[in-house]
Amino acid sequence: MDPESGRKAIELAAEILRRGGLVVIPTETVYGIGADALNGQAVADIFRAKGRPQDNPLIVHIARLEDWDRLVRRVPQAARTLAERFWPGPLTVILEKSGLIPGEVSAGLSTVAVRMPAHPVALEIIRRSGSPVAAPSANLSGRPSPTSAAHCMADLQGRVDLVVDGGDCPVGVESTVVTLAGPRPRLLRPGGVTLEQLREALGDVEADPAVLGQADPAKPASSPGMKYRHYAPKAEVILVHGSFQAFSRYVGERGGDGVFALVFDDDGELEIPCLRYGGRMDHREQARRLFDALRRLDDRGARTVYARCPDPKGVGLAVFNRLIRAAAFREVRL
Ligand code: TXA
Ligand code: MG
Repeated sequence: MDPESGRKAIELAAEILRRGGLVVIPTETVYGIGADALNGQAVADIFRAKGRPQDNPLIVHIARLEDWDRLVRRVPQAARTLAERFWPGPLTVILEKSGLIPGEVSAGLSTVAVRMPAHPVALEIIRRSGSPVAAPSANLSGRPSPTSAAHCMADLQGRVDLVVDGGDCPVGVESTVVTLAGPRPRLLRPGGVTLEQLREALGDVEADPAVLGQADPAKPASSPGMKYRHYAPKAEVILVHGSFQAFSRYVGERGGDGVFALVFDDDGELEIPCLRYGGRMDHREQARRLFDALRRLDDRGARTVYARCPDPKGVGLAVFNRLIRAAAFREVRL
């Protein structure tokens, strides 16, 4: 986009938000479908547009640190430390909410999730709208999160007032979600800011069992979003652990109509059609390409997808977390 039409799109987006409309906004993680976070009606429209379950709360996006203070009851020192280190950036922090947050945003919880995104277009739109912006990922509920404007159009055209194209999202998976509302800092969703980085900043951070897919189904989810089968392409995905050689043999015996492999750039050739999603050790590249790869598999008519398992270290933990959900916890160990 040239600078003049860029400015116009930002101004139009801000105006639509002020009027209570819905705007798809680029962020550094994934695209979000935004509404004025302080307007309960506008926020309710997000749930309708996405087909999102009513009990799944939204993240509130801010452009200035000062705005945080009025959205939550208190900003503790640990929260300030995280903001200083990681904002603007792919980190969402959960705290007890203030009276300003409409019930639609927090879906009945006493807490609210807040983040300051690192995308210049997102920041400018929020600033100009004059209000914090509630925004879940701009996909139809259950579909892979969108990392390009084309993904958003495919899911939401006709359901929102405007889609602002900011190019491909550089992080590619959603923000890291950490709660400071409990007795100890707890990682609820891994993302662009790693667990290792959080521990370096805060010392003690525990990972919710659901991060690695070990949640106890009998207990209520700490983060409602984690209980849904998520990021799912239409195909059945199976996550395969083990060496490339073993993988190659395994899928070679299972080829057929609609059967695909999802592998790393540096893996060898296979007997069945495959898509690649980054180098085996390049977790950031895997994160950038994963959701697009899942959507491409749908476009190619995949019915069964065998996916090479990423190493769950650093940002790889986020990649693993998304893939295991896309696979609805179907795993094979070779
Ligand atoms: O990167 C991102 O976070 C993107 C961009 C648009 O900012 N947004 C995003 O939003 O991924 P969404 O709605 O798709 O995911 C928000 C996650 C959900 O899993 C939700 O359950 C959780 O955050 N969440 C939100 N508020 C919460 C709260 N008060 N307590 C626990 N979990 C919360
Ligand atoms: Mg989402």
